[in-house]
Amino acid sequence: MRILLIGDIVGKPGRQIVARSVRGLVIQEGLDLVIANAENCAGGSGLTPANYRELIAAGVDCVTLGDHIYRRKEIAAVLESENNIVKPANYPADAPGRDFALLQDHEHVPVAVFSLLGRVFMKPVDCPFDAADRVLGQLPADVKVIILDMHAEATSDMQLMGRYLDGRVSAVLGTHTHVATADQQILPGGTAFQCDVGMTGPHESILGRRIDRVLETTRTGYPTHFEVATGDVRLCGAIVDVDTATGRATAIRRVNITEAEADALSRLVAEPPAESPQAE
Ligand SMILES: [Fe+2]
Ligand SMILES: [Fe+2]
Repeated sequence: MRILLIGDIVGKPGRQIVARSVRGLVIQEGLDLVIANAENCAGGSGLTPANYRELIAAGVDCVTLGDHIYRRKEIAAVLESENNIVKPANYPADAPGRDFALLQDHEHVPVAVFSLLGRVFMKPVDCPFDAADRVLGQLPADVKVIILDMHAEATSDMQLMGRYLDGRVSAVLGTHTHVATADQQILPGGTAFQCDVGMTGPHESILGRRIDRVLETTRTGYPTHFEVATGDVRLCGAIVDVDTATGRATAIRRVNITEAEADALSRLVAEPPAESPQAE
């Protein structure tokens, strides 16, 4: 099974490159499942119900979030009603949303997806290691393919979770820092790992926001509006191949789609069937 995790989608530029690329990527790469971290979709922070529907219409099968999950409160209804969107499993039990999603690929192979928040340089949350054990203990025995979106600031948090779950999940893939790391690997127990799969949005930016605004506020302490930037939009993520019999990963590679490549991918989908008459 081939699975793509798309890293933090930032604002409209991020949503647009997802809409232009995903269906073409499914064809070009032979993807069976597409997961997307959507915590920055709404103007750079949070996710609205309309954003959620836009991602699903674009071909995303499952949505994860992060520390900005409730920035747009109206997403709570979607988190409660839909079974392909999850909250971080180490949030309080009473927080809106489910701890994991149980999906199936087109051949009805079960897949579990969950996410966790790290604790270094982030707001206090419950223990992610205990939460991981709790989620894994709740999954049906026939679920071998398990993907974790580890949403954390520190590379050590990512590595610790990768090692803790090595051999128990198919992939531990990082999000949140918005900067892709070059450490994609298969750990000894068969878990695919990468500290951060990178950001989907404008890369001519500071983590997706306008450089001048962030620089001004950082230098002077005087608040400005951190508008979402516009330049050099890319879709970043990781593609993982998993042996469905064992749940072990067999390959992981980075994805970094430029705007020109997204255009080519959209043409892949838009091309009419061979028997159709040519447009004027
Ligand atoms: Fe983010
Ligand atoms: Fe985050």
